[in-house]
Amino acid sequence: MPGNLRSLAERRQPTRAQLRHAGPQQASLRETRQGSRVRKGRMHEFKYKNNQLYCENVKVEALARRFGIPLYVYSYATLIDHFIKLRDAFSSLRPLICYSVKANSNLAILRSLVRQGAGLDIVSGGELYRALKAGCPADKIVYASVGKTDQEITTAISKGILFFNAESLPELENINRIARKLNKITRVAIRINPDVEAKTHKFITTGKITNKFGIDLDSAYRILLLRAKFTNLDICGLHIHIGSQITESAPFVAAIKKVADFIKKLGTKMITLEYLNIGGGMGIIYDNETPQTARIYAGKIIPLLEKTGLKVIMEPGRFITGNAGILLTKVLYIKKTPKKKFIIVDAGMNDLVRPALYDAYHNILPLRRISGSEKADVVGPICESGDFLAKERKVAKVSEGDYLAVMGAGAYGFSMSSNYNSRPRPAEVMVVKDKVFVIRKRESYADLVRNELTPAIR
Ligand code: LLP
Repeated sequence: MPGNLRSLAERRQPTRAQLRHAGPQQASLRETRQGSRVRKGRMHEFKYKNNQLYCENVKVEALARRFGIPLYVYSYATLIDHFIKLRDAFSSLRPLICYSVKANSNLAILRSLVRQGAGLDIVSGGELYRALKAGCPADKIVYASVGKTDQEITTAISKGILFFNAESLPELENINRIARKLNKITRVAIRINPDVEAKTHKFITTGKITNKFGIDLDSAYRILLLRAKFTNLDICGLHIHIGSQITESAPFVAAIKKVADFIKKLGTKMITLEYLNIGGGMGIIYDNETPQTARIYAGKIIPLLEKTGLKVIMEPGRFITGNAGILLTKVLYIKKTPKKKFIIVDAGMNDLVRPALYDAYHNILPLRRISGSEKADVVGPICESGDFLAKERKVAKVSEGDYLAVMGAGAYGFSMSSNYNSRPRPAEVMVVKDKVFVIRKRESYADLVRNELTPAIR
C-alpha cells in the first residue's frame, strides 16, 4: 500500500536525515512542513508567509472570502512546473506527454497544458469533447476505456484521434466494424495487461490479470498474428497502465520489461509497431511518501524504452495536477463527544471523495498558522459516516470560523465531485502569480435541478 493509503497507525514523520538526502519532491516536503523556503519549481507553490498561507503571491484567505467556500484553488506555476519536470526528465526520448484528463478535466487546466505541447489521454466521449474544446489537436489524443460505446468510437474516428487503446478482442472487432462502415483505417494500440503488482490501493491497481483492463500477453500475441483480419485497423502500438499513485519504480520497470520482451518476440514474426504508450501512475507526496522523482523514474526506464526503438507516449495525471490544487473549507462546528472530537467543516465527500473511497491521506493546514495541535476527525456535512477528510488526525487547534486547506487536492478532487445531498459543486480558481482567474463558477441551486422535469404523473 502507498503511504497515503496506509493505516493511520503506520504513519511516521520523515527523519531529518531522510529530508536532508531527499530529491526535489522530498525537499519540498520539508518546505511544506515548515511552511517556508519553498523554492521555485519544487513540489508546489502553496506556502506560509508571515503565518498566512499563500498560493503563489496571493493570500489564500482572501480567496476564501472573495469567492466563498468550499473552493478549489490551483497554482498555475505548480501545474506547469510538473509538466516541465517530466518533459525535461524524458527529453532524450521526446515522448508525447498525454495528460490524463480524468485527473482534472477543467478546460483552463487542459488548455494550459496543451499550450505547453501536451497531448491528452481520454476515456470517454465527454473527455473527447473537452479535449477538443481545450484546443488539443486530435492527433495528440489517445483513448482508453474498457467500455467505449459505438457512438464514442464513431466520433473519435471521425475526429481523427491519434489512436485507441483497445482493451479486449470484442472491442477491436467493434472498432474495426465501425471503421469499415466509415470507410476509414483507424489506428489502435493494444492495451496489455502485464500481470504485475503495482503496490498501490486495490481500487487503483489495473495491471493484474484479475483486473478488467487490457489483454493478456498470449491473447495479444494471437491477435497480432491475425492482425490482417482487422481490415480497417492499423495496430500500431502497445499500451500499458498498471495503476495509480505508484511510489516505486520497480513495478513500472517490471511491466516495461515484459512488454519490451514481447516487442522483441513480435519482431521475430516480422510484426513491427510504431508506439509504446507507458501510461501514467507516478505517485506523489501526500503525507510522508518518498516517490521516485521524474529524473529517477526516467533514469530507470529510458534505457528499456530506447531499446524498443518505438515512439514513447506517457499518460501522467496525478503527477501533473495533484499538488497543484487545494480545497478550501471552513470550520462550522467543533463537536466534542465522550469519545472523540469532530471538526465539522463545510466540505464533504461530494467535494473530495478520496478519503472516503480510498482511505486516502490529505494534509490539512489552517490558512492562518495556529500553534498547538490536537487529535480529531475532520468531517463534512454529508449524511454518511464515510464522510470524512481526516480520521484520528493530529490537526492544528482550530476554532469555529477558521479556514482550512486540504492539500494535494488537484487530481481526482473536483473531477470526482458530485451533487450528493444536493450540494452545488464548488467554484475553481487559478492563481497565476498575483492574478486570480475563476475557471469554474460555483454551481447554484438552479443548476442542481436544471435538467429535471416534473411531468404530470397521476
Ligand atoms: N492512463 C490510464 C489508462 C488511466 O486509467 C489513468 C488513471 C491514467 C493514465 C492516469 O493515472 P495517474 O498518472 O493519474 O496515476 N481516482 C483515483 C485514481 C484513479 C486512476 C484511474 N486511471 C484516486 O483518486 O487516487
